[in-house]
Amino acid sequence: MHLSSSLLALVPALALAAPTAESFDTTPILPDGLPYPTPEQLQQIEQAAHGTLPGLPLPTNASAVGITNLQLLAFQEHVEVAFFHQLIGNITRNTTGYTFATDLEREFALRSLSTMLAQDELHALTANNALQHFGIPAIEPCRYYFPVTNLEEAIALATTFTAHSLAALQDITERFAANGDSSLARIMTGIIGNKGAQQGAFRIYQDKYPSELPTLTTTDVDFAFTWSNSFALPNTCPNLGDIKLRIFEPLNIVTRPEARTHKIQVTWTHGPDESKESLLWVAYINQHNVPIVAPVQVVSCDGSKSTAVVVVPYDEFLMNGLTVMAVVNRRGPFANAEAVARATVYGPALFIVE
Ligand SMILES: *[C@@H]1O[C@H](CO)[C@@H](O)[C@H](O)[C@H]1NC(C)=O
Ligand SMILES: *[C@@H]1O[C@H](CO)[C@@H](O)[C@H](O)[C@H]1NC(C)=O
Ligand SMILES: *[C@@H]1O[C@H](CO)[C@@H](O)[C@H](O)[C@H]1NC(C)=O
Repeated sequence: MHLSSSLLALVPALALAAPTAESFDTTPILPDGLPYPTPEQLQQIEQAAHGTLPGLPLPTNASAVGITNLQLLAFQEHVEVAFFHQLIGNITRNTTGYTFATDLEREFALRSLSTMLAQDELHALTANNALQHFGIPAIEPCRYYFPVTNLEEAIALATTFTAHSLAALQDITERFAANGDSSLARIMTGIIGNKGAQQGAFRIYQDKYPSELPTLTTTDVDFAFTWSNSFALPNTCPNLGDIKLRIFEPLNIVTRPEARTHKIQVTWTHGPDESKESLLWVAYINQHNVPIVAPVQVVSCDGSKSTAVVVVPYDEFLMNGLTVMAVVNRRGPFANAEAVARATVYGPALFIVE
């Protein structure tokens, strides 16, 4: 199970025994008939989302890169739909750890989350409908596991995956634009705004100012695929192999990064060739800046587990908001997030400062 890959210090006790696919029942994974709602179910989703699916006609064809983008978007949105559905269930049932100080707060949270759930369902359907329009099979949901057991952890995780979705949607948009899929690029920007508003609400709940950064951190589609897949139970994604993107080996952050330059500890499980462990660096993707590279100091190699110390150069680069971190096999310099992904051995690990 590699969900610990990216889950950072938010949820430190990740090594706990995660359930296996077999321990789950066969009830639908996603609500409201997703990924194939009936017309009546779609109408209910649109009512709950306070709006409709995009209605403008789609182009007649899309590029191969554009198809991969749509597959990734559906895959990523399914994780979010499953998460919000579970979270709403926990709050509705008054599960321990999911209660509120007042009924007013509880009611507002449920209303807000139900709207977000329905909006994310429409994002998933937007992607899957477009795939089917282009003659490509829809992406089916996996079975998921979320390493959270109370409201604070759940919102911290939601903030992290929403921040990374916002990062991924930037990469998706550029790839659409660069491959002649301009009308699909426009739809992505509409979705980005919606998720930015969701993110602001989560941040307010965490007592942070709602607008994270002037220019939100970007990422690469391979990192987005790896991160989304880290919530899927192994061998439960029917068309994982259809999505022509990479899945990297996990990287775990042990020390929660803070708003100052300091050293943090990270761990990973290395392959059979231990000699390669001495030729590693860490790259940080933050905002729209040139990726920052820092040396990796491996402090122990215990069996197949490597523990290393790296500097987070916060002060020099004002590394607020989301940072996407990866262990890479060359020193760089890296032109952008894609170049980091091409050199990645372990990652991504995500952290949010401020
Ligand atoms: C769609 O097909 C037309 C005609 O074959 C082609 O010129 C165009 O490049 C295609 N669009 C994309 C996004 O691949
Ligand atoms: C819902 O609550 C259960 C039981 O505490 C927990 O295992 C699960 O991770 C929670 N899910 C979310 C999304 O909060
Ligand atoms: C949960 O608690 C609220 C009060 O905060 C109550 O109105 C509601 O009926 C409870 N729901 C269940 C399923 O216990």
